[in-house]
Amino acid sequence: MKDIYILAIESSCDETSMSIIKNGCEEISTVVLSQIDIHKSYGGVVPEIASRNHIENITIVLEELFQKSKITLDDITAIGVTYGPGLIGSLLIGVQAAKTIALVTGKPLIPVHHIAGHIYANNLEKRLQFPLIALVVSGGHTELIFMQEDYSFKKIGGTLDDAIGECYDKVAKIIGLEYPGGPKVDRLAHIGKDNYDLPYPLNDNTYNFSFSGIKSAVINLVHNEEQRGNKINKEDLCASFQERVTSVLVKKTMHAIKEYHVSNLIVAGGVSANKGLRERLEKECKENNIQLSIPKIEHCTDNAAMIGAAAFYAYKKGIIAEQTLTAVAVDNLYKYN
Ligand code: KG4
Ligand code: ZN
Repeated sequence: MKDIYILAIESSCDETSMSIIKNGCEEISTVVLSQIDIHKSYGGVVPEIASRNHIENITIVLEELFQKSKITLDDITAIGVTYGPGLIGSLLIGVQAAKTIALVTGKPLIPVHHIAGHIYANNLEKRLQFPLIALVVSGGHTELIFMQEDYSFKKIGGTLDDAIGECYDKVAKIIGLEYPGGPKVDRLAHIGKDNYDLPYPLNDNTYNFSFSGIKSAVINLVHNEEQRGNKINKEDLCASFQERVTSVLVKKTMHAIKEYHVSNLIVAGGVSANKGLRERLEKECKENNIQLSIPKIEHCTDNAAMIGAAAFYAYKKGIIAEQTLTAVAVDNLYKYN
């Protein structure tokens, strides 16, 4: 088979990223330009500022990518791009860049769902084994997905309100940690002890999640302690919070694995970088003889390498977009069956 090189573009939030991926699994070169330092002072991503920065960064990233990779546009088979879901203004910049490159070169344009990208980040480590359960945990998503084969997604559960990463970031903000607070909460959780009485979030027998209750519980706890003139032990609060959320995530994931009779679990999205979650899943999977795949840290958070990996399998399935492709803020992954 002739090698397939995908030029991939990701700009759904605050990272401008491009990558060249060979045959859906080999990362030739990736550039990620993060805007975190710009958004930090606002306590979160400001959509308008993010899109303006994508405009400034996109050609810089493209030039750097080709300088680094020693590959030319002629070697590229197709252009893959995240068309959604995400921040509409940010997505539009990546989509417009991809459409322009596709138009100028005459190469096919492959629309990639952001969550499919996160899932296929695992294919950059090791070929996905089917059937599998994917636990997708990011700033915008918390979902359990069943995959029978490549590029076929069946949702079996998801969050009813906040996403897990969003909840981590809000808890971090309440206790005065800088955006993005998820990794900082994770670090403190490993120093602290589970001494605070927090509820287990939607600890039932469904595959759904709900994190707004535990977020409110943390807000109330911090306010009550402040009013009493007591100092919060941040490390302990992070440890208790992390124990509750990871415990429910792991319990429901292991339940899905049993019910769907699979022996492969993949974890995807920014929160898959969480050490507490990784440790718990590793332990459970080892005890239950389940093959666990978690991307390396730089492939957990947003990057174009994962989009290039997913684009290869979308391309093989004949998913090609016209020049009419546009970005969408919300989109259903489960149309790909
Ligand atoms: O996948 P991602 O880069 O962006 C979205 O598609 O949403 O995920 C970003 C999210 C942020 O909420 C960030 O705080 C969280 O992932 N995150 C973590 C950790 N590393 C990143 N949350 C908890 N623990 C971590 N170690
Ligand atoms: Zn993401």
